[in-house]
Amino acid sequence: MRKKIVASSWKMHINSIFDGKKLAKDICKEVGNIDEVEIFILPTFPMIQTVANEFEGSNIKYGAQNVCFAEKGAYTGEVPANVLKEIGCSYVELGHAERKDMFAESDILVNRKVKICEKYNLIPVVCIGETKDDLYNNIGKQVLKTQIEWALEGLSEDFRKKVILAYEPVWAIGQDKSADPEYVNETHKYIRQVIKEQYGKGVADRIRVIYGGSVSPQIAPKLVKYDDIDGLFIGRFGLKVENFRAMVQSTLNAVEKAL
Ligand code: PGA
Repeated sequence: MRKKIVASSWKMHINSIFDGKKLAKDICKEVGNIDEVEIFILPTFPMIQTVANEFEGSNIKYGAQNVCFAEKGAYTGEVPANVLKEIGCSYVELGHAERKDMFAESDILVNRKVKICEKYNLIPVVCIGETKDDLYNNIGKQVLKTQIEWALEGLSEDFRKKVILAYEPVWAIGQDKSADPEYVNETHKYIRQVIKEQYGKGVADRIRVIYGGSVSPQIAPKLVKYDDIDGLFIGRFGLKVENFRAMVQSTLNAVEKAL
């Protein structure tokens, strides 16, 4: 059985180390000893070390929201994978819609970054998702297929199984409500089918596909109850510790029910 995930990228919502430290401490107190669910937090770069200190000795892991495609050299403003590894990061988020939209990241660049993650044994959390226009033009599934291929191309079979795909329909990010859980479930099935056709059943059965886009405590149980939804990628609604705790609890309940 695939281990379910509850993860949160803090994006740039938390813009003070003081606030980040407090939230990390509170989260750790509430859910730090849970190990039936994989929990991780992705703060901004300079906050990672602070959060790491708070999580020490707990089951909560952490990572970054980006990494440079190159290992070393004249890349002003970029952060190398090796440094992320040195400060104990386990995960790196890649290809979020905001990075594609505002920082011109392409699928090709995402693929280069995924390969750097493989080299440094960092687990990439690769965001994929169609826009409203893609749906309107009836190319939503094709867009997803292309993104899946860029996320997984050129990797070893072993590493492919470790990649986490975050299905984040662009039209559902930053909204009042998430996408409809049934729709999400159907899309996750499609994503797994594409992976099976392209990379075989071994990878398709092991790879985890989590959902992100306006996930809230109200909708969380309706998402994680599905086998093909391997967890939650939480944004704004995870910034309050009681919300985050509730969503971990819903996921725990789903895991226990499935046993
Ligand atoms: P949101 O962000 O929950 O604030 O919509 C989710 C995401 O973009 O990962």
